[in-house]
Amino acid sequence: MSVQSKIRRNTVPQIAARKGGEPIVSLTSYHAHTAAIVDKYADFILVGDSLGMVMHGMESTVGVPLELMIMHGKAVVRGTQKALIVVDMPFGTYEESPSVAFRNAAKIMKETGCGAVKLEGGARMAETIRFLTERGIPVMAHIGLTPQSSHVMGGFKTQGRDEDSWPLHEADAKAVAEAGAFAVVLEGMVEPLAAKITKQIDIPTIGIGASADCDGQILVLEDMLGLNEWTPKFVKVYGNLGPAIEQAVSDYADEVKNRTFPGPEQVYR
Ligand code: KIV
Repeated sequence: MSVQSKIRRNTVPQIAARKGGEPIVSLTSYHAHTAAIVDKYADFILVGDSLGMVMHGMESTVGVPLELMIMHGKAVVRGTQKALIVVDMPFGTYEESPSVAFRNAAKIMKETGCGAVKLEGGARMAETIRFLTERGIPVMAHIGLTPQSSHVMGGFKTQGRDEDSWPLHEADAKAVAEAGAFAVVLEGMVEPLAAKITKQIDIPTIGIGASADCDGQILVLEDMLGLNEWTPKFVKVYGNLGPAIEQAVSDYADEVKNRTFPGPEQVYR
């Protein structure tokens, strides 16, 4: 028996079965060490393409390459034992055709060892979602505010403010559920619309800036830890680590400059 086979992770069917049940807890993570902490509490961990902005200082997620997702995906899988790991398919790796999407999703799964992929888009991606799931690749869908389309959407705008647009979002949710997605992220969506969609479809909805009535929630870890200078308005900061890190770095710099930096004899534990 391999070491890996002793690891018991949450499975895609277990997450799907949580529809209407105990709320699903999820966070993003991009590194082995934060993932190991998150793993104790999260049902699934998303290696989100938000890593392009959060970790690599990009303006948007559009420039994130596949290899970067694979590198961070591997780290998160190595650091965890319990959570289902979902890796985002970056922009340009799945929209062209179902077979291009299959090739890249299979590469992500084979090289990272993750349990599922996530891709953005509703009805327009239904054919691809069906193609992947029928061929053994579990897909989490992502509708509402889809950051990879921010250039078309004209920025990061809350969706559904105009009630006339609701039928389109509802149709997106139904299309991805019918195509075989095991769960769907509802991002940046007015609360009553997200709550309505949650009642309408039989797969779990995972809210981010959507509604507390979703079947689960996800946040970007660095946002809820107060590590980003700017965080979306809907994010509650659960731990303000930015100032704590700055204090530690500043104390260290002072000690080095003042020659009060402790010698090894003083810090050996
Ligand atoms: O990339 C990401 O982190 C995401 C979440 C915000 C859902 O897609």
